[in-house]
Amino acid sequence: MGLTIALNRGRILSEVLPMMQQAGIEPSEDPESSRKLIFESRTGGHRLVVMRGSDVPTYVEYGAADVGVTGKDTIMEYGGGAHFYEQLDLGIGRCRLMTAAPADSALAQGRDVRGPLRVATKFVNVARRYFEAEGRQVTLIPLSGAMEIAPLMNLADCIVDIVDTGNTLKANGLVALETIADISSRVIVNRASMRTRFGEVQSLLSVLRDAAGNDEGGWRG
Ligand code: PRP
Repeated sequence: MGLTIALNRGRILSEVLPMMQQAGIEPSEDPESSRKLIFESRTGGHRLVVMRGSDVPTYVEYGAADVGVTGKDTIMEYGGGAHFYEQLDLGIGRCRLMTAAPADSALAQGRDVRGPLRVATKFVNVARRYFEAEGRQVTLIPLSGAMEIAPLMNLADCIVDIVDTGNTLKANGLVALETIADISSRVIVNRASMRTRFGEVQSLLSVLRDAAGNDEGGWRG
């Protein structure tokens, strides 16, 4: 059997699928329109599995998938590269992980907020590490989406969220404050698969590296 590759469903899938195709991995049906979640490749015996980005690291860490593609934000939230090898930056899905607050708030206007900062986010681990490093006391408020609402409803002083065009912030009267990290889609590899399926993994990485137009990488054990 070939490799099992976990892909983040959603907006980057349409950019990742042509890269997979260059590697000879062409799903039997179109994952963007099908309700199926597991797709056999027409050649090579590979499988593509389409799932939530935040689940990709879990599948790769435990070896249910050999390879995964997901955002750096998700990898950071999962706890970084100790659980798998992060091998390649595909250069797609570029955005930034930022703090943001209402434009008319004390925080956005550079005034002090008394007591611990109330931070609403789905990136609680990233936010905890970031504010700890800043020496700032925070109360983390976990949410699963639409974080922009939280400061407007006085649930939080600020949010930590992905900013791409900035349109969502603007439409809700928020402004971006600090950049926590530059984000793009990364290829991660299960640690055992890197040894036991070295040839297949390397040939996939090599095609993806060319498709991404960068020569960074190579195996870093
Ligand atoms: C992300 C993010 C913002 C929005 C930012 O959500 O949480 O809401 O995109 O993009 P913009 O700066 O171009 O407006 P996404 O649409 O990915 O949905 P999600 O909440 O499910 O992550």
